[in-house]
Amino acid sequence: MSELIQQLELGRLPQHVAIIMDGNGRWARQRGLSRLRGHQQGAESVRVIVRTAREIGIRYLTLYAFSEENWQRPRSEVQALMSLLKHYLRQELPEMQENGIAFQVIGNISQLPLGVQKEIAATMAATAANQQMTLTLALSYGGRSEIVQAAQSALKDLESGSLTIAELTPERFSTYLYTDSYPDPDLLIRTSGEFRLSNFLLWQLAYTELYFTETLWPDFRQSAFLQALLSYQQRDRRFGLTQEQIEAQTVSASRY
Ligand code: IPE
Ligand code: IPE
Ligand code: MG
Repeated sequence: MSELIQQLELGRLPQHVAIIMDGNGRWARQRGLSRLRGHQQGAESVRVIVRTAREIGIRYLTLYAFSEENWQRPRSEVQALMSLLKHYLRQELPEMQENGIAFQVIGNISQLPLGVQKEIAATMAATAANQQMTLTLALSYGGRSEIVQAAQSALKDLESGSLTIAELTPERFSTYLYTDSYPDPDLLIRTSGEFRLSNFLLWQLAYTELYFTETLWPDFRQSAFLQALLSYQQRDRRFGLTQEQIEAQTVSASRY
């Protein structure tokens, strides 16, 4: 582990890492355990990854915990996930405070059980002034719904006259999204060997580096996370430019 940390260039870490935490069910099935046990082990991985991200200096960590589509799972699993979430928030608040972590949520929160909504509001309020890292859980989240909701808000502003059609640029449009105040993710990780986005951050991932691993989420711990960060640091991000242009930019930036 420490060997991996030494290979990381701490000055070139992704500012924002987003993770699709997948594979809890398969992890449990392989062991003949209930899916709930898989989710519990998954919550342990969340603790480890949040702690590691904070320690090495990642500024934004966004975790896909429950999708809009996940409401269609068996009622007992949905209830177990909601109760696990409440438990997680209660248990982690002291550590968030100690480590300067601001807690946020994106998604259609009004669909969550009231008890969970209250716990979320309390955690957000208590951690609002924390500055070291923003931890965001995507809950009852869907990328297409987020974009439609942004379009609806923009249309309202258009109707009221506070926005004109010409003013609606991509930059302006992103201010209507849940992620208004965040930089776009630099790195997206998906565990458990699936190569899809499952309706996650569709707008925000336009230029994000993608990293897929076979590791199931309950097994995704510190060294797996560091491997993903190392892989990110080996990428050339060009944003549509040529490699020569990027190198020229780096040279001129290093002059100042
Ligand atoms: C991810 O694990 C957790 C949630 C989607 C809530 P899964 O529960 O999807 O695990 P698999 O994909 O069935 O293995
Ligand atoms: C995506 O995982 C959602 C979360 C990780 C919360 P799913 O397991 O729900 O995705 P699909 O169904 O395999 O696409
Ligand atoms: Mg899954």
